[in-house]
Amino acid sequence: MARLAKYDLVSIDDLELEDIEQIFQLADHFSQSLKEGDTPRLAQGLIMATLFYEPSTRTRLSFEAAMHRLGGSVISSADMKTSSVAKGESLADTVRVVSAYADLIVLRHPHEGAAKVAAEYASSPVINAGDGSREHPTQTLCDLYILRSKKGDLKGLTVAICGDLRYGRTVHSLMYALARFGANILAVPNKGMEVPEHVLARLAVQRNYKFATVSIAELKSLASDLDALYLTPREPHQMALFTGEMAAGAARAVKSDPPVVDALYVTRLQRERLKDGHEVGSEYFHVDSRAIRGSRTQSAVIMHPLPRTDELAYELDSDPRAIYFEQAAVGVPVRMALIAWLIQLAAQGEAKPRRSPKAIAFSSRVHPMCANPTCITRSESAYLSPRFRFAPWGDRSALTLQCDYCEHEARFDYVGNSRSRRYYRFDETLYGYVRRWVEEGSLMVFRDPKQAEESGYEPYRRGPQREVMNAQEMRRALESLAEQIIADLSDLTGVTVVGILTRGAILALRLRDLIADKTGIVLPCAAVSVVGDEARIVPLEGKDGLAFDGRTIVLVDDVINSGWTVQRAMNALWNAGRPASVRLAVLIDRGHRALPIRPNYAGKNLPTAPTERVRVYLDSQEPVGKRKATERVVLYSMLESGASKGKHV
Ligand code: NCD
Repeated sequence: MARLAKYDLVSIDDLELEDIEQIFQLADHFSQSLKEGDTPRLAQGLIMATLFYEPSTRTRLSFEAAMHRLGGSVISSADMKTSSVAKGESLADTVRVVSAYADLIVLRHPHEGAAKVAAEYASSPVINAGDGSREHPTQTLCDLYILRSKKGDLKGLTVAICGDLRYGRTVHSLMYALARFGANILAVPNKGMEVPEHVLARLAVQRNYKFATVSIAELKSLASDLDALYLTPREPHQMALFTGEMAAGAARAVKSDPPVVDALYVTRLQRERLKDGHEVGSEYFHVDSRAIRGSRTQSAVIMHPLPRTDELAYELDSDPRAIYFEQAAVGVPVRMALIAWLIQLAAQGEAKPRRSPKAIAFSSRVHPMCANPTCITRSESAYLSPRFRFAPWGDRSALTLQCDYCEHEARFDYVGNSRSRRYYRFDETLYGYVRRWVEEGSLMVFRDPKQAEESGYEPYRRGPQREVMNAQEMRRALESLAEQIIADLSDLTGVTVVGILTRGAILALRLRDLIADKTGIVLPCAAVSVVGDEARIVPLEGKDGLAFDGRTIVLVDDVINSGWTVQRAMNALWNAGRPASVRLAVLIDRGHRALPIRPNYAGKNLPTAPTERVRVYLDSQEPVGKRKATERVVLYSMLESGASKGKHV
């Protein structure tokens, strides 16, 4: 009978904060018992298999030492080239077989998502000891444990994380954890080694967390007390959603007091992950004693997951602030604690529930590939079908998905329906259809028409476009909306305007300006993003618009049709606070509601056939009052290829 619960540690987020606390308490206990030479033989009779498809010193040896100290046994394949992998055995087969030999599998693999795949196929629990450039959760446990022992509570600490933030897996897990513990991160990437978009998005969406990025030069000036520092919160995932007038507000630099750095976390260049031809900027951050001389860095501890190459001067080794060897040494008690925690979990007999976002499965044999060349779905393609989920970032001009294994972005310009075998150029008016097709299992995605046609799909073509509103009419409709709002809401001081990204948010800012012109009252403004699995609130111009409790919200969108988008936006509002009421303002009401939602203010009622599509063109780059005449609203149908009439979408 299995002695360990099937609880896989693939990401640091698989552990709740209280789990981490429990593991740290156990680690304190084991540190003490190791000192006393008296470790309990908790794991007697258990076997751990260490499968390392990549080199390792610390992680494998400290895991093995931990298991031995607890009285358990270890079987190891430290160099998978000497195993059946050399004969072409798949990861799935290997871990299924090893599950019969070992109670616990510790896996290191060069490909992103490998630990997730192993966890799905192995019947024994799998611990991720590093999967490509994705995550390294047990290194993070060691990092947090040593940092806390030196600095106390993690909340409020400022950790400068330097070097290769793109391919370094330890820093990704560390960022996820620091965000949850309420620490501040100062990212100091080497040029071209910035934090990947999917990591930023995960921090923003799941943790509502943004960090500041500074250049190496800025960090140096901080360390030498030269200059004040201007910190700009990084929000590229959101910036991608902003255009023109919105970007001006969102990109405003925030001048903040230069922080006191509590820890400097240095990482090496992950040279083995660089693609051929990747140029490494000449300057890779090099930390020596000067880095901790200034008043704002002198109390910083220096950390490094090791191995070091030339980013960390040997002269630091004798400095009491250099804690990287202790950081490596706690690998044993911390990993003992993790194993003991898994044993406790099994003894409690309760399965820990897991939350994972719903993946989009493609029924057809022709399915999209993940674009990341080192995604596990690329190397194990014989049995793995790529799986995606809606990416919580991106604009609505392409369908932005995210690989369920490696989390990398996948953008598709064309979508198709496998029942009608038609394909379409994606635009945001199709978003509602796409969600329905996902539920029906009929969604297909393509990068270009060629791919669609080679898969046997026929195009829908746009029927003739009819202009239903020109720029002047649009301005008048907005004026009318502003007047309707002013007449209806007696107390404007309690009103917040929230626009649905992207077009609704542009219109929200214009309405805010029109209302300010007419009444002198400037309403706070925010945006809501409805892409991704969960709709969420996004600040538009500072944080003013983010308090919703007790306020009247005017939700703004360009077109209302089925009402699904509005419903998703309302959910996001509801998660963010308790508004007193929500009113809906739309430029165009098409009137085909699937849900009982009616706009309170409409710029124009435009009864349309369900098969017709309405597209609002906004030129948000121009300053107010000087808009190009290209702004317009058009109406068109989708026609089958070659047919002048025929079936519609
Ligand atoms: C790290 C790793 O393998 O990701 N090493 C480790 O486990 N301590 C860091 C690295 O290799 O740079």
